Amino acid sequence: MLKRINYISSFVQEMSDEEIVDLARQAARNNAENDITGVLMAKGGLFFQIIEGPEENIDRLFSNILKDPRHEKIITLGIQVGDIKRLFPRWHMKEIILDRATSERLQPVRAIMDAVHAQSAIIETLTEALAASAWTELLDFKPEN
Ligand SMILES: Cc1cc2nc3c(=O)[nH]c(=O)nc-3n(C[C@H](O)[C@H](O)[C@H](O)COP(=O)(O)O)c2cc1C
Repeated sequence: MLKRINYISSFVQEMSDEEIVDLARQAARNNAENDITGVLMAKGGLFFQIIEGPEENIDRLFSNILKDPRHEKIITLGIQVGDIKRLFPRWHMKEIILDRATSERLQPVRAIMDAVHAQSAIIETLTEALAASAWTELLDFKPEN
């Protein structure tokens, strides 16, 4: 059974393009052994990764990725399991550093990353505001009917 996970996350601290390339190369080596393929995009302090492969291997990898101290604020955008086709059959982990890749064709991907960046800042502010006080009030609230 194939599984695909898409997620975004934020760098814990700034990473150079070389560090990102190294990370992806190491990932590609491990992934080749585990029949995993995908892409790792980086832009403006954010990662956007798609991993796909046998379900058990993806679950094991993703639980490692969740614990990796190089990134935080991991938000899963989508999970597909079952009768799916690989999107990246030829890439064990292709890195795309969007500020460096000049191809016009990547423009829509850049736009998505910018939108995700803006949204994640808003989500963070809202979550913090809720965590501060509003949850108690929300949960104590009893409608009159
Ligand atoms: C954004 C990000 C993406 C990663 N992607 C992969 C990946 O596709 N494959 C992989 O093996 N490790 C990946 N890693 C590294 C894992 O979190 C972890 O360090 C690694 O799987 C441990 O492998 P090891 O036990 O063989 O050292 C990624 C880390 C980060 C921060």
